[in-house]
Amino acid sequence: MHQLGYTRFITTPHTMMHRYPNTQESIFRSLDTLRNALETAHIPVTVEAASEYYLDEHFIRFIKEKNLLTFGNNLVLFEMSYVMPPVELDMIVSTLQDNGYTPVLAHPERYLYFHANPESYAALKQIGVLFQVNINSLGGYYSKSVQNAAKTLMKHGWIDYLGSDVHHFKHIDALSTTLKGGIIDEVTKNNTIRNNLL
Ligand SMILES: [Fe+2]
Repeated sequence: MHQLGYTRFITTPHTMMHRYPNTQESIFRSLDTLRNALETAHIPVTVEAASEYYLDEHFIRFIKEKNLLTFGNNLVLFEMSYVMPPVELDMIVSTLQDNGYTPVLAHPERYLYFHANPESYAALKQIGVLFQVNINSLGGYYSKSVQNAAKTLMKHGWIDYLGSDVHHFKHIDALSTTLKGGIIDEVTKNNTIRNNLL
């Protein structure tokens, strides 16, 4: 990724009650390991850590305890089920906001139940949810319908952040292809991308 031009990373490892029961401590421990490995390998990048919180009871408890890993100005990255529409999303968004956090929805283009209802996106923006779209979604890595949803968000100027969502080398190959295709220029035409403010 450094060869692609990345020099600064905010990693967001999953926190999900049943699959990735991460805590601030476990994430910071791994961050130390990663920083040491980067130093040993002489790769000149900086790395910080937050988390991508899955919307479950664990997350709601962490919000109320004000125990979330944030990035930028108290931003919290969260995600939900791809197939089951969330219950009481408005309530969770306002609980986040009441506790001083700004919610950033990870890959809004990947929730299948939003594809037929683009007005859901407008409603979320309306209540103050920021959107982070995956660059690989715009490149068509996941599916045609995910790509179309990402393009809808792009057309409306609803994208606030771009994410790599890189989990493995295949994702980096796709990212490289999409970046070389000039996607950043295309997105920044009518979206105010805030990555540089972080
Ligand atoms: Fe995710």
